[in-house]
Amino acid sequence: MRTICVIGTGYVGLVTGVCLADMGNQVQCIDIDPRKIAALQKGQAPIYEPGLQDLLERNLRAGRISFTEQYPVGLANAEFVFIAVNTPEARDHGADMTNVRAAARAIAEHLDHDAIIVNKSTMPVGSGDLVQSIIASHLARPSVHFSVVSNPEFLAQGAAVRDFQRPDRIVLGSADREAAGRVAELYLPLRAPIMLTDLYTAEMIKYASNAFLAAKISFINEIARICERLGADVKEVAAGMSYDHRIGSYHLEAGVGFGGSCFGKDVQALAHMATQAGLHPQLLYSILEINQDQRRMLVDHLITLLGAVRGKTVAVLGLAFKPNTDDLRDAPAIDIIQSLRAQGAEIRACDPVANERTRALLGEDQITYWQTAYEAIDGADAVMIITHWNEFRGLDLDRVRGLLRRPIVIDGRNCYNPLDMAKAGLIYRGVGRGQTAALESSLPTPLAAISHASGVATMDLAPRESADIAQPVMGE
Ligand SMILES: NC(=O)c1ccc[n+]([C@@H]2O[C@H](COP(=O)([O-])OP(=O)(O)OC[C@H]3O[C@@H](n4cnc5c(N)ncnc54)[C@H](O)[C@@H]3O)[C@@H](O)[C@H]2O)c1
Repeated sequence: MRTICVIGTGYVGLVTGVCLADMGNQVQCIDIDPRKIAALQKGQAPIYEPGLQDLLERNLRAGRISFTEQYPVGLANAEFVFIAVNTPEARDHGADMTNVRAAARAIAEHLDHDAIIVNKSTMPVGSGDLVQSIIASHLARPSVHFSVVSNPEFLAQGAAVRDFQRPDRIVLGSADREAAGRVAELYLPLRAPIMLTDLYTAEMIKYASNAFLAAKISFINEIARICERLGADVKEVAAGMSYDHRIGSYHLEAGVGFGGSCFGKDVQALAHMATQAGLHPQLLYSILEINQDQRRMLVDHLITLLGAVRGKTVAVLGLAFKPNTDDLRDAPAIDIIQSLRAQGAEIRACDPVANERTRALLGEDQITYWQTAYEAIDGADAVMIITHWNEFRGLDLDRVRGLLRRPIVIDGRNCYNPLDMAKAGLIYRGVGRGQTAALESSLPTPLAAISHASGVATMDLAPRESADIAQPVMGE
């Protein structure tokens, strides 16, 4: 059992805190937000993340985790001090280190014993040195000895608890190998590969990983645009690519693009670091540009099918930036709703867990909020699927057709088979779906059967009558 202090109780800090407590450690969490601390002390997780609430309650009951606004209380006897505060995008597109600086300074002012400082926030290369120098220059008790270890977090929201408990790897960077080794011991029960390296390299691994994942998404979205023009189906293309183990299937899903608090700001921050170093990171800029265009493209698709949206009603399914989270930071749905509202549309919004947060962010002007997809769709002129929550992936299409005033579906996540949509009488526009429907109708039966048997098909390749694939006529 170790005593651990975690600074910042957001998506990363809170998950880190409860998971480390669940591993038998004594965890003391600090946050400057009094509302968060009050809720957490009562056992209420201020964010939605599968499994988090249960872990929080269990470890509070066991007395293994506590929450405070007071640094001296949170730091008391802590052998490890994790910094997990937010590092948002700054005005110049670099990482805003204000919160890290404040946390480092507060540690320096209140630490009264030796400790290892663990940088868990995503921080630019060189931040380990920065934290080291801030603490060293403000130490209230100069006899205190400390070391800094970079331990970037790779969890994905929506699966944060699982990712923390079953990480692909743990990265630890430090000039002090002994300190890094002691942090490694904390993670041994997780039985994950542990990589020890230097501070700069550990910091860069985090940025490079996020940039690579974002690049995969923007890459397949660019391919989707080409597919759309040339008549190929990007879902099939991605499936075909993914059998190559050098490529894999993760993040190879064309759609509305990435959102959330990390990919965009981390790619920006990496590009900023590169330009500061005199480089021209053109690939990084392209990742961001393609991603931003995807949001505009979906609105354009809608206008192509529906005409001007002024005075029309659009149902938006999914508000959070991805399923299983209530996080709206850089959520594509928010940009899309703002754009539609500015053009005079009425919005019927629906998200299983993010309605209230969206109401707080966007208010109720031209927006109503609905608990179920069918309520949101009822009477709308079109529906846009923006977040692929499971409950939006298996809609009763006949019911959808019956509820919509005009049968238009814009699928920003390619949840549906264009053939099924056409069959249900819906005018469907996915992302990069080309002409699969037309091609399928001409597939000879044996080939369709082979595709099924081998599991290669991601779409239903059963032969259909040509009437099935006829596109419904626009409008009513
Ligand atoms: N969210 C993710 O999926 C994710 C994944 C990996 C890494 N990261 C990185 O982890 C860091 C935290 O991200 P997050 O999403 O948890 O942020 P968050 O905004 O959800 O939480 C940050 C918390 O830190 C608190 N805080 C700010 N300054 C403080 C201070 N001086 N002292 C104490 N508390 C303070 C805030 O009140 C807030 O509760 C960021 O650097 C982020 O890039 C995030």
